[in-house]
Amino acid sequence: MKLRTFGLGLLVLAACGAGGFIAYAWEPEIAAAENPTFDFAPDIVKAGADLAAVGNCVVCHTALGGKPFAGGLALPTPFGTIYSTNITPDAETGIGRWNEEAFARSMREGVDREGRHLYPAFPYDHFTRVTDEDNRALYAYLMTREAVSAEPPENELPFPLNVRMVLAGWKLLFFREGAYEPDPAKDEVWNRGAYLAEGLGHCGACHTPRNVLGAEKGGEAHFGGGEAEGWTAYALNGASPAPIPWDVDALTHYLHEGWEARHGVARGPMAPVNSNLGTLPEAESRAIATYVVSRMGEPSPEKRARAEALGAEAATHPPGARPQSGGSQSVPAAHDPAERGAAIYAAACSTCHDAGRPLPYGGLRLDHSTALYGPTPANPIHVILQGLPAPEGERGPIMPGFAGSLDDGQIADLLAYMRKTFSDQPPWEDPSELIRDARADGSEGGQRSLGTGSDAPANPSKRETSW
Ligand code: HEC
Ligand code: HEC
Ligand code: HEC
Repeated sequence: MKLRTFGLGLLVLAACGAGGFIAYAWEPEIAAAENPTFDFAPDIVKAGADLAAVGNCVVCHTALGGKPFAGGLALPTPFGTIYSTNITPDAETGIGRWNEEAFARSMREGVDREGRHLYPAFPYDHFTRVTDEDNRALYAYLMTREAVSAEPPENELPFPLNVRMVLAGWKLLFFREGAYEPDPAKDEVWNRGAYLAEGLGHCGACHTPRNVLGAEKGGEAHFGGGEAEGWTAYALNGASPAPIPWDVDALTHYLHEGWEARHGVARGPMAPVNSNLGTLPEAESRAIATYVVSRMGEPSPEKRARAEALGAEAATHPPGARPQSGGSQSVPAAHDPAERGAAIYAAACSTCHDAGRPLPYGGLRLDHSTALYGPTPANPIHVILQGLPAPEGERGPIMPGFAGSLDDGQIADLLAYMRKTFSDQPPWEDPSELIRDARADGSEGGQRSLGTGSDAPANPSKRETSW
């Protein structure tokens, strides 16, 4: 359905515009550099490394078992599969013959050296905000990586989407080109955070809902919550479902360390984001946190009251002494999924989640977990099935996966129980399909180990975007 709308829309657009459109869509080739030499000062290369970490370049540009930046990772989109390209300095299969101008144009305009429009699976709708200076550093960093000869597979897109010219139509509709312009009404830290979050960090690529043509929605919908690789990327605006509202300190810690005492651990497609941010000075995470918390706005009185109640509950009932409200008040009824789930929770989960061990290696009190207040149970399903991996250098996982020991019905019961007991939200819709999908993803689940950031992609086999 989406595909048809998209295709027809662009065909109509192409037909109407005809000549004028083609003139608009045409971009010149930038001549290939002959025998370029890549000689950059170490500090500019280091600056580029930090910027590349914010941009998660290696996550998308590395295939399963492949060399870093050599491309070939499949990105399934609702329109077909797009493969990331080789951005090592290899002259034939990479970008070794791109001069700095060609590289900067690809980031700013989403056009390759030969003048072909690029698919927005490459998040240039965000990268366009990057300054010339930072593009120079990124270029220096990429051009000093190991050159790898590797050709990505052909994209699998139906006509007319396989004609790159139609992307000019998409850009005309949705793409606003230009470097970030600081807001003079805001301070330097806020502006730094906005620059990183809206630009290289491309937070909105996952955290903003998209329209049928795969473009991020604007206005109120900005940061309104999106989807990535079958995971829910929770809202980061006033609609944030977090039971304990985020503040700048908590969010800084979460972004920099990958976990936070009252919010838990970053998982799935978020894990490499944090693991990369963890390699930078903490001030960068603090800047992003300052900006994002300002977008969330002041929590409503209701949210504040709820957070206070949860805090008081945690103080009077330290984990372990917490009454199991879901099971104790009503007469047990085997036909109620939440009742059946209570028994599973008591047997399989409570020993860790009610034990009061500090995070990140102890389990969070689940009444503090966004996972149970979110719009869908996709994320807790992934965590229950796959568990959470071992910290670097340790053997045991911090949470075991239950894919082998709980069947779909038991997981559904468990979810019903946890939603009812730990959150104040209405029951989720039937989770069967989400459970089946998450099982099919199986071992591919994007997981990272806690600890220092690494260059390794967290979900090496595939990475799904809405584009
Ligand atoms: C969400 C995934 C994703 C991320 C993150 C990402 N890219 Fe890409 N990139 C792609 C895809 C997919 C393409 C290919 C687009 C196409 O074929 O039209 C691409 C293409 C490119 C190209 C054009 C190369 C060519 O041969 O045409 C460059 C340059 C590039 N990316 C650089 C970067 C840099 C630098 C970063 C980090 C700042 C980055 N990318 C982050 C997915 C990504
Ligand atoms: C590749 C997709 C992706 C990108 C890019 C991304 N996120 Fe996330 N984010 C997610 C997903 C998925 C989750 C849910 C993870 C979980 O359940 O642990 C998440 C969770 C979060 C949370 C926790 C929300 C809560 O209430 O529990 C915060 C805060 C967050 N992201 C901030 C950011 C910021 C800031 C950026 C940009 C620097 C960013 N994210 C970039 C996918 C992404
Ligand atoms: C061996 C200890 C252990 C067991 C058993 C365990 N967990 Fe966990 N769990 C953890 C740890 C540690 C974390 C990571 C810290 C955190 O975020 O809570 C975690 C994280 C989670 C999260 C994410 C919380 C958040 O928002 O950060 C959920 C949801 C969860 N577990 C559910 C369960 C369920 C349901 C069960 C039973 C089927 C279970 N766990 C069994 C240790 C455990």
